Amino acid sequence: MSSTKEQQRVILVTGANKGIGFYVIKRLLDRSASANTTILLGSRDLDRGQNAIEQLGSPSNVHLLQLDVSSAQSIHQAVNTIKEKYDGHLDVLINNAGVLTTDMTVDAARQGFAVNYYGVKTLNEQLLPIIREDGRIINVSSQIGPMALYESSIELQKKYTSPSLTVEELDQLVENFISAIETSTLEDVGYYSKTYPAIYGISKAALNALTQIEAREWNSAKNRLVLSVSPGFCATDMTSHASNARSPELGADSILHAIYTPANELHNGGFYRDGIELPLISEPST
Ligand SMILES: NC(=O)c1ccc[n+]([C@@H]2O[C@H](COP(=O)([O-])OP(=O)(O)OC[C@H]3O[C@@H](n4cnc5c(N)ncnc54)[C@H](OP(=O)(O)O)[C@@H]3O)[C@@H](O)[C@H]2O)c1
Repeated sequence: MSSTKEQQRVILVTGANKGIGFYVIKRLLDRSASANTTILLGSRDLDRGQNAIEQLGSPSNVHLLQLDVSSAQSIHQAVNTIKEKYDGHLDVLINNAGVLTTDMTVDAARQGFAVNYYGVKTLNEQLLPIIREDGRIINVSSQIGPMALYESSIELQKKYTSPSLTVEELDQLVENFISAIETSTLEDVGYYSKTYPAIYGISKAALNALTQIEAREWNSAKNRLVLSVSPGFCATDMTSHASNARSPELGADSILHAIYTPANELHNGGFYRDGIELPLISEPST
């Protein structure tokens, strides 16, 4: 049976010009060589995105989508492009784009949260109306989030993981964290992260909290799932290709679990690595 336009599955991966996102697309191509899946390769830079498509062998079902998730204008344009050119629907959105900021400055915090938290939040809000029944949103997070939370005060742990947390309250937690960096009062307000890059860690803890809120608020109407996934520690530019890290292909597989595991085997709002649900607060491994 030939595939009709209605049957096209559309999957968007942000930040897919390199690293784990690139391998997610490679793995998707391995699994869905059929022509009925349209894959949108998100890249903030068109040349880097085009280069990635060429590295994949220029498959006819992979299309470049210019998308800087830290720019409201770029998100707006990308959403319009999807609506106009790709049947106006999405089946799977993989929020993979991310940055690791190690400087403890307010500028670094703004930049880190703009991509890792606010970018995901804005893109999800704008794409939600076109995510189809049974669709999935996968927010690529990190185990550093739960570890950074473990090193924070009990009060903050409770707030970030509260089942009644609202998005407005979460935004306020994020803004308070950034203000505390500006005023050098992080410890006074309960953030003790010494072991891990605090901005990155708290941005991913906030992303896990956002996943829980989105899962609660968005699933009922159309059986949509919102999940957080850790790819595990992988050798990419972000980790300077650390020799003790696993391959980005394995990191991509962790994300593919969340795409292909049957919905009744997943906990909506859960945080997964390699198909196994992980806690939202976890002791740093020694
Ligand atoms: N590697 C790990 O060990 C590890 C562990 C846990 C979680 N993660 C998460 O996995 C995801 C992918 O990381 P990675 O290791 O593959 O990192 P990476 O190799 O540095 O790739 C990051 C990707 O995100 C893109 N990006 C950055 N800022 C962006 C923006 N404003 N708009 C759109 N795209 C943007 C980058 O594009 P450019 O090429 O244009 O910079 C690149 O394509 C991230 O969310 C990261 O936090 C990674």
